[in-house]
Amino acid sequence: MTESSDSQVKKDAKHFDERAASYGRDPNDLLNAIPNEVEQSYRDDLREVLGEFTEYKSVLEVGAGTGLFTRLLDVWGCKGIVGIDISGRMLDVARAKLPHCSFRQVTKEAEPHLFPPATFDLIISRQLVCHLIDPIAVFECWKTWLKPGGRIAVIDGLWTRKDWRGRSGALVDERPLSCTQTKATVSYLLERSDLVVKHRGYLERVNRFAKERFDIGQPREPIYRYVVVASAEIGP
Ligand SMILES: C[S@@+](CC[C@H](N)C(=O)[O-])C[C@H]1O[C@@H](n2cnc3c(N)ncnc32)[C@H](O)[C@@H]1O
Repeated sequence: MTESSDSQVKKDAKHFDERAASYGRDPNDLLNAIPNEVEQSYRDDLREVLGEFTEYKSVLEVGAGTGLFTRLLDVWGCKGIVGIDISGRMLDVARAKLPHCSFRQVTKEAEPHLFPPATFDLIISRQLVCHLIDPIAVFECWKTWLKPGGRIAVIDGLWTRKDWRGRSGALVDERPLSCTQTKATVSYLLERSDLVVKHRGYLERVNRFAKERFDIGQPREPIYRYVVVASAEIGP
């Protein structure tokens, strides 16, 4: 019998609780950190596909972690930011950093009634979907929580099996998006969740930065990051 999703989530939460104090703190750890020099690149790459951040008045970040990316959403002008995460300790760090944002710990991967329908005009995640056990169940929740005309933005990377070495070796064979070498899989799963994909592309500036850093001494190939944007409606 395969392990239940709730018990896997519990183990993941423990894993991230243990990493909370150090997560993303080393600016040379380009797998997790967002160094200051790349912040503008994230902004420019994402503004191209999401428009002005000040237009988003109710924003959900899923897998907000220690608030590395939440802080950027806040600085860029997003309002009404709510971050959810399975790791209480990761969120403790985020809360200390961003006391005016709202953070909530969750214990299940997909809880349709966590928020009322049509609550958010942007649902965004960075480096979250690679951890998901049942991405379709999660994306279906997101669809319910999205306001009419709202956007979903999934940011993740082309991870390899080697990137998961520190975790259980079997993990990648349980997680559909853990190490795909294409942005097509997320797009396909969003469409299977009855969402409409509006854009799928690479974060060109962010990836250029990672490549340049790699050239000056990173011990591995850079992670190429992509963003897939979806909405619940057909049309622009
Ligand atoms: C790689 S970290 C990324 C954190 C943050 N998004 C960032 O960009 O720095 C992944 C985060 O997702 C959280 N996470 C993993 N599975 C989750 C799930 N099913 N629902 C919500 N959060 C989850 C972890 O606890 C962790 O904080």
